[in-house]
Amino acid sequence: MKKLLQIIYISRSTFDSQEIVNKIEPNVARILAKSRVNNRKNGLVGVLYFGDGVFFQCLEGDEDAVNTLLSKLEADPRHKDIKVISKKYIDTLSFGEWAMKFAPLDEQIQRFLKENNFQTFDPYLFSGEMINKFLNLLFKAYDESSDSILPSKINDSTQAPLSKTAQRKANLALLFSGLALMVSIFTFFTTRNLI
Ligand SMILES: Cc1cc2nc3c(=O)[nH]c(=O)nc-3n(C[C@H](O)[C@H](O)[C@H](O)COP(=O)(O)O)c2cc1C
Repeated sequence: MKKLLQIIYISRSTFDSQEIVNKIEPNVARILAKSRVNNRKNGLVGVLYFGDGVFFQCLEGDEDAVNTLLSKLEADPRHKDIKVISKKYIDTLSFGEWAMKFAPLDEQIQRFLKENNFQTFDPYLFSGEMINKFLNLLFKAYDESSDSILPSKINDSTQAPLSKTAQRKANLALLFSGLALMVSIFTFFTTRNLI
């Protein structure tokens, strides 16, 4: 039987952070979108956090798939100083329903950093206990990123949902085509003196 592996690693981004859009740095949004497509294909799940230029990612899945991704991650120029801070076999997946959850900086995480006297997010200085507590916060965090990029949950459609503006435009288009149809029917009947 294949073994399930969980790894947690941290790394530093090599890109200059851009202005946040929908609570996500655009480079991170691109990484997430690709991850969600790939992870669905490869049966991988997990969670990603990005703060102060530092990534914290937990990856879970079949041992071979996790190790293959780890080799790709090590060769990815978008980050450096990759440090695997936890690697263990697991019986059940903690992030089983997430192709790659994205946890934003929320109040709980802010409080956690403050309580532990961290001015910035620096998991390179986290103790083992802090790593576990932080992972638990990521587990509980609310992921809003599915609205702006690909859905993060395994069972969600792989199609990105329509944005509210796109939905409004689609509704208006439908309304106008309905009106146009009614006008043509009315004109057809009146020109033939049927009404
Ligand atoms: C911080 C970070 C996290 C990433 N997470 C994932 C991931 O969960 N799954 C994934 O397939 N690629 C992930 N990537 C991208 C991989 O490094 C690599 O570019 C990608 O898997 C290549 O996909 P391809 O073989 O389909 O071209 C991540 C990259 C970075 C920088």
